[in-house]
Amino acid sequence: MDQIHPRHVADVDPASLYGNDPRRAWPERPWVVANMVESVDGATAVAGRSSDLGGDDDLAVFRALRGVADLILVGAGTVRAEDYGPVRLPEAIVDRRLAQGRPPVPRLAVVSGRLELDPDARIFSGYPIVITAEASDEARRAELETVAEIVVTPGPSVDLGYALGLFRARGVEVVLTEGGPSIIGQLVAAGLLDELCVTIAPVVAGGDSARLVAGVGPFDPPVEMRLERVLVGDGDLFCRYLTVR
Ligand SMILES: NC(=O)c1ccc[n+]([C@@H]2O[C@H](COP(=O)([O-])OP(=O)(O)OC[C@H]3O[C@@H](n4cnc5c(N)ncnc54)[C@H](OP(=O)(O)O)[C@@H]3O)[C@@H](O)[C@H]2O)c1
Repeated sequence: MDQIHPRHVADVDPASLYGNDPRRAWPERPWVVANMVESVDGATAVAGRSSDLGGDDDLAVFRALRGVADLILVGAGTVRAEDYGPVRLPEAIVDRRLAQGRPPVPRLAVVSGRLELDPDARIFSGYPIVITAEASDEARRAELETVAEIVVTPGPSVDLGYALGLFRARGVEVVLTEGGPSIIGQLVAAGLLDELCVTIAPVVAGGDSARLVAGVGPFDPPVEMRLERVLVGDGDLFCRYLTVR
């Protein structure tokens, strides 16, 4: 994989590159980075899943970004669509985290209002966090309490800003969201997204999957991002943007 912007560097290692990027938590919330893959024509899923879009290099960047996170935030739609499992990372990334005095892998937090999550699903073998709203069904909450830590935010639906504040108070500095589009949309709309890492896969997918940011906007004027870095590998482009503040 080569870096092609801001200058050419051959054969870069994504784990050390993303691992060394500066990310500073805000006093009231963690730094929030999103990572998504899309086709050239902007599809985020093929047949309802994103796994066919990314290749080996995308997996390396995906893992590198997991390596920098204290917590991974993901919507229940993505957990159901992709059958998320507990977080596993390559040994080199685990060693790097341990050397920094951090836990071997980040925790996973799932956002859900309806709580229609199967307690026997793979994800629950890793005792994730489930973030839900005060208005959610109490019986469903009690059932999931046996396999997950439940975090409740006030109001009819999950307030992501409130949840991020709770995590910051617990010492979380970097949150990685892996989507889906509705989660990224809410974060952008609330001004909570700091960094966006987008893989553009060299395929045209067509279809009507959501764009990377869904359910919000159009923003007028659009939210301005600054292109910080571009890598290329296997025909994929790996673009790293920072929100202009
Ligand atoms: N290309 C990529 O990198 C990528 C990454 C991730 C996902 N995807 C694709 O995106 C699709 C899923 O996207 P999506 O937008 O439907 O799913 P999503 O954003 O992962 O999840 C949506 C669900 O999250 C919960 N949710 C989100 N915000 C909430 C709030 N404020 N309060 C309460 N609950 C909230 C709801 O769950 P409940 O229904 O449980 O209440 C909602 O149905 C899949 O096809 C997946 O493959 C692609």
